[in-house]
Parts: sequence; structure tokens; C-alpha cells
Amino acid sequence: MKKVIMLIAAVFIIIQFFRPQKNISSQVQANAIEQHYAVPQNVSTLLKTACYNCHSNNTSYPWYNNIQPIAWWLSGHVNEGKEELNFDEFNLYTVDKKKKKLHEITKSIKEGEMPLSSYTLIHTNAKLSKQQQDEITEWATSLENEIR
Ligand code: HEC
Repeated sequence: MKKVIMLIAAVFIIIQFFRPQKNISSQVQANAIEQHYAVPQNVSTLLKTACYNCHSNNTSYPWYNNIQPIAWWLSGHVNEGKEELNFDEFNLYTVDKKKKKLHEITKSIKEGEMPLSSYTLIHTNAKLSKQQQDEITEWATSLENEIR
């Protein structure tokens, strides 16, 4: 029993040395959605609070990101999230992809898939009220119709 605990402790200590790379960029985000399309202030604030940690080139990390394997788990969310949708690279998408992503934003919010529930559990300020959801989806829908 003692050996097992020692082994688990040793593994825990060793994995602390394997840190995933952080999603932090000091560059100006020239292809950010806000540089090319109108994003009203209220919507921008909501997206930054509820989505940008996983869907932009800059994540604001919590203290527990210093602990493995938590950091691996968070990094997985950020990498997967960015691959699906990156607000900081939005302007690099084709017209079709832009429209598709805006459509998915509306859909994922309406279905309660986004922001991820594991995220809002801790980041309670990222939980969107019905009105906040509407603010984002109305903007996304009108932009989807505007882009051509
Ligand atoms: C904790 C990280 C996290 C947060 C916060 C988050 N997402 Fe996601 N998002 C993901 C991950 C991971 C995926 C890919 C896997 C999946 O679809 O569940 C994803 C996928 C998506 C997709 C594409 C696939 C789909 O489900 O339609 C859209 C659109 C999206 N997110 C929008 C948003 C919006 C809008 C917000 C804010 C209201 C948000 N996300 C907040 C992690 C996050």
C-alpha cells in the first residue's frame, strides 16, 4: 500500500515537468473579427468573457493551469476550440466558412453547448443569460446574412 502511494506521488511529481505550451500571443491580431466586421460593444464583451479563452489566440489562464494533468486538459480544450473557431483568425476564413461558423455560433449557443458546461461551472461569469444569448445570436445571424 505504501509503495503504491509512493509510486503515485512520484508519477505526480514527474508529470509536473511536462507543461503544454500556453496559448498566448503578443502580436497584433490583424485578422481578428473585430478588425474587419462590426462587433457591437456589448457582444464583444460577452464573446471575450464567455468564448475567447478557447476561441482566440490569447487565453487568460487560471492558477491551476500550473498543475498537471489539469493543464493538459485545459490545453486540449483550447487547441480543439481554436481549431473549430478562432475569432482572432476569422478574416482568414473563406466566405463560406465565415457564414458556417457564424451559423454554428448561433446553433451552439441556442442548444446550450457553448460555452462548455465544464467551463461555466468554474467561470460563473461566462454563463449566459437568455438575454445575453439573444444578443450574441442576433448579431451572429445578421452578420451571417451580411457577409457575401
Ligand atoms: C472551455 C473552452 C471553450 C469555451 C469557453 C467555449 N468553447 Fe466553443 N468549443 C470548444 C471546444 C473544445 C470545441 C470543439 C469540440 C466541440 O464541438 O465540442 C468548441 C467548438 C465550438 C464551435 C464549433 C462546433 C460546434 O459545436 O458547432 C463553435 C461555433 C463554438 N465552439 C462557439 C463557442 C462560443 C460562441 C462560445 C462562447 C459563447 C464558446 N464556443 C465557448 C471549447 C470552448
